[in-house]
Amino acid sequence: MYVCVCKKVSDRAIAKAVAGGARSFREVRDELGVSTQCGKCTSLAREVVSDCIEAS
Ligand code: FES
Repeated sequence: MYVCVCKKVSDRAIAKAVAGGARSFREVRDELGVSTQCGKCTSLAREVVSDCIEAS
């Protein structure tokens, strides 16, 4: 599913970024551009990032 509609970032893309070494919301945001437009996805994106980090 899309976490960030503006930037078309999916939960899978976030999981991939974490698997590739991203270790914080900021790092994922800088890499994928998630949450850099309207901002409505920020809390969900943070949640998905921390779930992925915890699971890794
Ligand atoms: Fe992510 Fe708009 S939905 S910035």
